[in-house]
Amino acid sequence: MKTKKREDQPTSPVESRPANTASRTFAQDLFDGVAPSYDTWAQVLTFFQYLRWRASLVSRMALRPGNLVLDVCTGTAGVALEIAHNHNAQIVGIDITRSMLEAGLCAVEKQSLDGRVQLIQGCAEHLPFPDETFDAVVFTYLLRYVQDPNATIRELSRVLKPGGQLLSLEFGIPKALWMRALWEIYNRVVMPVMTIPVSRGWHRVGCFLGPSIRGFCQRYPVDRLAAIWRENGITLAEMRGLLHGVAIVMWGTKEK
Ligand SMILES: C[S@@+](CC[C@H](N)C(=O)[O-])C[C@H]1O[C@@H](n2cnc3c(N)ncnc32)[C@H](O)[C@@H]1O
Repeated sequence: MKTKKREDQPTSPVESRPANTASRTFAQDLFDGVAPSYDTWAQVLTFFQYLRWRASLVSRMALRPGNLVLDVCTGTAGVALEIAHNHNAQIVGIDITRSMLEAGLCAVEKQSLDGRVQLIQGCAEHLPFPDETFDAVVFTYLLRYVQDPNATIRELSRVLKPGGQLLSLEFGIPKALWMRALWEIYNRVVMPVMTIPVSRGWHRVGCFLGPSIRGFCQRYPVDRLAAIWRENGITLAEMRGLLHGVAIVMWGTKEK
């Protein structure tokens, strides 16, 4: 697989296949509205935890030099870059939202990592790669945006080599009552209000995030997610709550 940016497409992500039908998806619309300022505001709105959580995820990766890694829903390529800085691996990032990938490509070029990080436009549900291509597959904040999380995990597992690692990072809901109360106030009141002066796009995100996380966690509590991983051939090594469960890191290995 080519991991260098194509010479004839210097300023745009590689388009592998149509990410969806003619109508833009909800996720594309949502992230189109925030792409240029995504990294800054993601940090601010998580009280500067966003990069720490990302680093925590990447620190669980056990890679060998030259390994090939897929970063699904790479967005602005933050996870892909974190992997590139910490492991001698080749990384492919895939995302449906072109504006997020364009911001990602700028970051990749700025850090002179275009020889190791390739960005592709495409969707997680239909990955444009043969079976068992990658040594590790990582996805962050993806499953709330897909219609069928089980089928999506199956697709991620398909492109993972036996013995390869699957890792995820997603928001969660804290269990401790005091933290849950703070979480509810923050997501129901603070986020929707404090994003108003930022931009329309961020206000939309600020209103969307709480109900999205709450709904997803009700439908897919961590035990159910772990079962889905197992059903799709991934032996879960561990899951760990970050900041009292506001985020959850999971990692495991595909059975040989
Ligand atoms: C919250 S952002 C996270 C970006 C990045 N993973 C990070 O940690 O900064 C979610 C990303 O998922 C992408 N996304 C949503 N649904 C997707 C899908 N079905 N396939 C691929 N990417 C998707 C969005 O375009 C967006 O860039």
